[in-house]
Amino acid sequence: MRGRLHAGTRLPSTRALAAELSLSRGVVVEAYAQLTAEGYLVARQGAPTRVAAVNAAGAQDRPATDRPAPAGANDPEVAAAVAHARRSWVGGATPAFDLRPWAPDLAAFPRRAWASSLRTVLRDAPDAALGNPTEPRGADVLRATLAAYLGRSRGVATDAGHMVVTGGMTGGVAAIGAALRLRGVRRIAVEDPGFSVHRLLLGRAGLETIPVPVDEDGLDVDALAVTDAEAVLVAPAHQYPTGAVLAPERRTALLAWARERDALVLEDDYDGEYRYDREPVGALQGLDPGRVVYLGSASKMLAPALRLGWAALPGHLVGEVALHAAAGGGAPMLDQLALADLIDRGELDRHLRRMRPVYRARREALLAAFSAELPAARVTGIAAGLSFTVLLDRLDEGAACVEAGRRGIAVWGLGSFRAAPSPDDETGLIIGYGALPQSAARRAVAELAAAVAQA
Ligand SMILES: Cc1ncc(COP(=O)(O)O)c(C=O)c1O
Repeated sequence: MRGRLHAGTRLPSTRALAAELSLSRGVVVEAYAQLTAEGYLVARQGAPTRVAAVNAAGAQDRPATDRPAPAGANDPEVAAAVAHARRSWVGGATPAFDLRPWAPDLAAFPRRAWASSLRTVLRDAPDAALGNPTEPRGADVLRATLAAYLGRSRGVATDAGHMVVTGGMTGGVAAIGAALRLRGVRRIAVEDPGFSVHRLLLGRAGLETIPVPVDEDGLDVDALAVTDAEAVLVAPAHQYPTGAVLAPERRTALLAWARERDALVLEDDYDGEYRYDREPVGALQGLDPGRVVYLGSASKMLAPALRLGWAALPGHLVGEVALHAAAGGGAPMLDQLALADLIDRGELDRHLRRMRPVYRARREALLAAFSAELPAARVTGIAAGLSFTVLLDRLDEGAACVEAGRRGIAVWGLGSFRAAPSPDDETGLIIGYGALPQSAARRAVAELAAAVAQA
């Protein structure tokens, strides 16, 4: 791997190379498969195999040992697990009050601006842009635009060369999990409670996930330090689902832990743009870009259906992660170009500026409704994001959610976010307000209170 073949170079067909070298075709097929698995080649069905952009991105030439089967986005078990984790409301029909913390206000999606960006892209993109993408990291223009945007909005220290566009953040987590496992990493710590889809995908990538508790200051870094984890996935700006922000001394301690252990920190910044009481805390990644991978997503800023996410990575990981991310086909090119145009024209900023006061008002209306209708509920977390958690002592969460469902409310219990629920856990509900109009807050909480009383 001396870089004699440039990224994108087309390799001969296995048949032609086998004939040229007087080898059986099987040997050549095997060698191509091996180099593809190791990240040196990119293979796509029906297209020529090409040299990957590994060195261009500064990835290290490390031999891969002990390879597990990589997690695939097309794996039916993963698909089923993700569907389960995002499971729909029990009733099937549209709930009267949707308190699930899964989406922003879909009715507020900036359709006009998005259509205008798509039109611009269709008018201006060269024909070559419609071909099979040759750059596994994603569209150049989007990576450059995102790097600049994240630098100014979230304090992320990166550039286009270190960014990889992924199929949502979950696509990025799966790709990073697979890349780490190929490097011989075995154990990754995750927040407990936390986002179950990430946990599942890391497990499917062959990593053991080690749950670490969170409290009102975010991830318990002392508890992390007594594990033998070699990496950690954390949401420092707004823990999911408790809503805690990682306390400043814990940020420092987490980075010190990573340095001491030579460990990698994966930073989940799923909703960092939404902070209502002050300016958002900058990304942890900005403090140590060599050790922290920044992960972002369009799902909360725009809409989950876009399936667009991004990762800002240390140089040595870019090539491998890009190849894993591209292996499932990569993110759709026209949507990548449209997102770049949307950001470039300031439409994303405009959309977020418009939505922040809306979500803030929804949050405040719900908080007021809880103090009036269900004062026993203790709200956790900071004024941020699109959801909060309410703790309710000794709540039978399953019964409460079913009863709420009967009353037209879609809501999830805290237990479904835990790695291993136990009877001693604190109990409560997650309250998402992305989709709940302010005017419905009081009625929704009154119904919820009735459901809780009956559970
Ligand atoms: C904690 C957390 N991280 C990440 C994501 C985003 O995942 P994706 O970009 O794949 O939709 C979500 C979305 O629900 C989330 O709740």
